[in-house]
Amino acid sequence: MRKEYSALINRLFTKARNEGVIQQPIQNDTFNGRDVIVNGKRQLFWASCSYLGLETDERLKRASIDAVERYGTQLSASRAVIESGQYGELESLLSEIFGKPTLLAPTTSLGHISVIPIIVHELDALIMDQKVHNSVQNAILMARDEKIHVETLNHNRMDFLETRIQILLQKYNRVWYFLDGVYSMFGDLAPYDDLKYLLNKYPNFHIYVDDAHGLGWAGKNGAGTTIRDLGWHPNLILTTSLAKSFASCGGALVFDNEEQKSLIRNCGSSFIFSGPIQPAVLGASIAAAKIYLSDEIYTIQKDVNELITFFIDYANQLCLPLITSAHSPIFYIGVGKLEVGKKLMRFLMAQGHFATSMGFPAVPMNNSGIRVCITRNHTKADIKEFLDLVTEGLIMLLHEVDQDLTDVYDAFGISPLATNNI
Ligand SMILES: Cc1ncc(COP(=O)(O)O)c(C=O)c1O
Repeated sequence: MRKEYSALINRLFTKARNEGVIQQPIQNDTFNGRDVIVNGKRQLFWASCSYLGLETDERLKRASIDAVERYGTQLSASRAVIESGQYGELESLLSEIFGKPTLLAPTTSLGHISVIPIIVHELDALIMDQKVHNSVQNAILMARDEKIHVETLNHNRMDFLETRIQILLQKYNRVWYFLDGVYSMFGDLAPYDDLKYLLNKYPNFHIYVDDAHGLGWAGKNGAGTTIRDLGWHPNLILTTSLAKSFASCGGALVFDNEEQKSLIRNCGSSFIFSGPIQPAVLGASIAAAKIYLSDEIYTIQKDVNELITFFIDYANQLCLPLITSAHSPIFYIGVGKLEVGKKLMRFLMAQGHFATSMGFPAVPMNNSGIRVCITRNHTKADIKEFLDLVTEGLIMLLHEVDQDLTDVYDAFGISPLATNNI
């Protein structure tokens, strides 16, 4: 990172922390998945990615405690040497969820670092979606060498992608496209129908998906948006996170066959050089996986999906600038200027609601907004109260800077309610 850039980010983050809108410690003695206490005030929590609300589930807590009682707090040895029997049980449950051989990395980021440099070869061309998660981009940088071509694609532009595939395949053996299943900032989904078409049309086209935010609330056995909307394809590598809807930790790496899984297990850096996941976390993951593999997951999904639909309908009724109305548990309410976003967050906190104020460099300048995550711990009444307050605060604060909603739509280059195509 350039020195001037890190200095700018450092300044912006320090200012935002001092203003009380980022890096806030919670003061809870206990946590119910719903409320956080910040600066002595209880707030309804709108920043949790634990979409199914399983972090307080008794079965996960008991399984975690039981694992500690049996195995202690850690088994401190590389998985290349020896591993807890919990791994075998969990990876077999995960393989059942995804219907394909699955390997568990300590985190999703370490998973990307283990997979990407191994699966891409010289004379491959790599195309990153402009908005693919930072952890994927970092792993691509590690894979890069003079015989591997890397370029960036404008977000979700499948028309450009097909042209680039045709051109690049004249020179390179394979073309890879790296993308997120659900984009973590605006909550929009991958264009799965187009990707399916391209995968079927070009045998040397491969995709690598990070569906961290798609797990749990979508698909059979909660396998996520990729399995739900694309199904499986031999040229797919699927990765996802257990640190969100699974209420635990780790990165699941899903492969087409046992040979690929074994290659990564033997050569991937985090399977050799990183420590293992702690028994308590593996215990919670095993309990979560059993819920995913039972019919209960469909009741849980129904609850979450009803809340998502309610959020979209009510926000649209209030004419709030939702940057996409995609059906996912992540929403981004545009506000435009950074100062308006921070003031809106403080206004909401004063009323007992903790959402996330997003600004540069996480999003472009003047594309600030409030990021909201829906979990099963919310109710429709919570959503209504929250969105009413956002509307009241946003209109008041835009007025203070001589703006209105039209300026917000202009800042994002979208028109009111035509918000699905970012
Ligand atoms: C889309 C996506 N991928 C990867 C990660 C990183 O996950 P991990 O903490 O398991 O490395 C995140 C983190 O929030 C994410 O949102």
